[in-house]
Amino acid sequence: MLRSHTCGELSAEQIGQKVTLSGWVQIARDFGGMTFIDLRDRYGITQLAFNEDVSAELCAEARKLGREWVIKIEGEVTERSNKNKKIATGDIEVIVSSIEILNESKVPPFTIEDVTDGGEDIRMKYRYLDIRRNVVKNSLILRSKLGKEIRNYLDGQGFIEVETPVLIKSTPEGARDFVVPSRMNEGQFYALPQSPQTFKQLLMVGGLDKYFQIVKCFRDEDLRADRQPEFTQIDCEMSFVEREDIIEVFEGLVKHLFKYEKGIDLGDFPLMPYSEALERYGNDKPDLRFGMELHNMGEAVSGAGFKVFDDAELVVGICAPGCAGYSRKQTDQLIDWVKRPQIGATGMIYLKVNEDGTLKSSVDKFYDADALAKWVNIFDAQPGDLILVLAGKESNTRKAMSELRLEMGNKLELRPKDKFECLWVVDFPLFDYDEEEDKYHAMHHPFTAPLADDAAMLKTDPKNVRANAYDMVINGVEVGGGSIRINKRDQQELMLELLDFSPEEAKAQFGFLMDAFGFGAPPHGGIAFGFDRLCALFGGSDSIRDYIAFPKNNSGRDVMIDAPSELDEEQLKELSLSVRK
Ligand code: AMO
Repeated sequence: MLRSHTCGELSAEQIGQKVTLSGWVQIARDFGGMTFIDLRDRYGITQLAFNEDVSAELCAEARKLGREWVIKIEGEVTERSNKNKKIATGDIEVIVSSIEILNESKVPPFTIEDVTDGGEDIRMKYRYLDIRRNVVKNSLILRSKLGKEIRNYLDGQGFIEVETPVLIKSTPEGARDFVVPSRMNEGQFYALPQSPQTFKQLLMVGGLDKYFQIVKCFRDEDLRADRQPEFTQIDCEMSFVEREDIIEVFEGLVKHLFKYEKGIDLGDFPLMPYSEALERYGNDKPDLRFGMELHNMGEAVSGAGFKVFDDAELVVGICAPGCAGYSRKQTDQLIDWVKRPQIGATGMIYLKVNEDGTLKSSVDKFYDADALAKWVNIFDAQPGDLILVLAGKESNTRKAMSELRLEMGNKLELRPKDKFECLWVVDFPLFDYDEEEDKYHAMHHPFTAPLADDAAMLKTDPKNVRANAYDMVINGVEVGGGSIRINKRDQQELMLELLDFSPEEAKAQFGFLMDAFGFGAPPHGGIAFGFDRLCALFGGSDSIRDYIAFPKNNSGRDVMIDAPSELDEEQLKELSLSVRK
């Protein structure tokens, strides 16, 4: 027997019992006559005690053990004189009577404790060691628990889990595909799915009615804290549904998870049109944990001879409560912050609403007290507040202001990790117009149906057609998105035509789907959640990497297995590939 108990379960109840434990040596402390070892496994830490008076031999053996050696011990549970309230097993220790080394370990490259000296790179290279640490281990346990509960919920709602293929066909929409050469079909490639979108629709044509899958998706795009090249979706589709049906089922899923995991009862999620989200918060995934809404200041500020405002497409501001006392250094730092290339503003104007009611702006030359009072009115600013204003091209300025709002939210600690504000963003535009290419792109994907009220405008005014699409946003994170789909062949053809597909291209790319629509495709719609993002949200982290057992780094590399890697000549030849050096 390798163990009678785990390292996390012994308590005062077992005092006097003989036990066998196995685990890793976290740390050994030698006090001359006594040696103590913290023995760790997935479940916790148990203190082992070796007394020189009882057995000098055992004590000598214990002193030989290094960090992360794997050992098995036998011993007796005793009450600890010096109790440790911080750990579950802190009332007891095990007086060891025999010790067996199951495996030795090299000195680990970083300390495997909650607070570690290992930087990100080294921890990624030795991810299996990092997984021994509580933070990483607990994140993976949380992920497993959530996955199980998601399956429970969806099973309870009558969903069927179906696996869809991983070797599929490359499509030009969305992000770049990862491709896989086919040995048996010279010069041809599979693509890894960016999502199982078309397959889940075909399952609806197949009559399965309610499908889900917790599934790996692959996108060759630039990485950020909330993006990985391979990530996991909770992918779902339903037949004979309208938007409200989808919202009910999947808002229900998220409410269920919050209740189950956190004991939190979330109220109903508000619906906010895309245009309103943009206007009030500057982006389509607003963080509703705090206000500080954007206000358009164009009318109030134009015509005063201040060129920056006069020439701007958009002048927009926010009111940061209680920040009028900011020093020159602090406002300069904010100006530098908005001018960073990632934010992209050309500058920032501010107005301090001082505690004594006086107003002090960075553009006093152009605006007298009466003019500045108008600004105060727009925001209903109170003494002590600071109004921050950006101006310039509409979409850049709105985006920059949205970032500044989030930054001020961080500074003022208005974004606590234990507060959750959820909403649905709806009524997205169906198309995104790309000026450079003079082309429309599908904002969600080409299978999304237009809102019924707008369908007639598809041919005449595509720019203003709204999609029957919805995103679930929690604390400023897009955790999921979906839509009601097109289920008629002619509408799908028109959609692809508007997206600049020739009839031949449309047939080659999506002929299988349009064919299927010719065989009685039911009305259907669905959603996919980013499972990694959902886990990070529940775990209180901004980075999804912590919730992925073996994630990629920012260059898309797995530094542990050193992938991607080159192929040898033979393999390349077999795949009819050659690499230009
Ligand atoms: P979408 O592209 O919006 O929709 O993706 C759904 C959700 O997946 C998550 N997500 C990601 N998570 C981590 N890394 C990434 N690179 C990444 N990309 C997306 C997001 C997002 O909300 N087939 C449609 C869904 C549908 O219409 O039903 C789709 O894939 O949380």
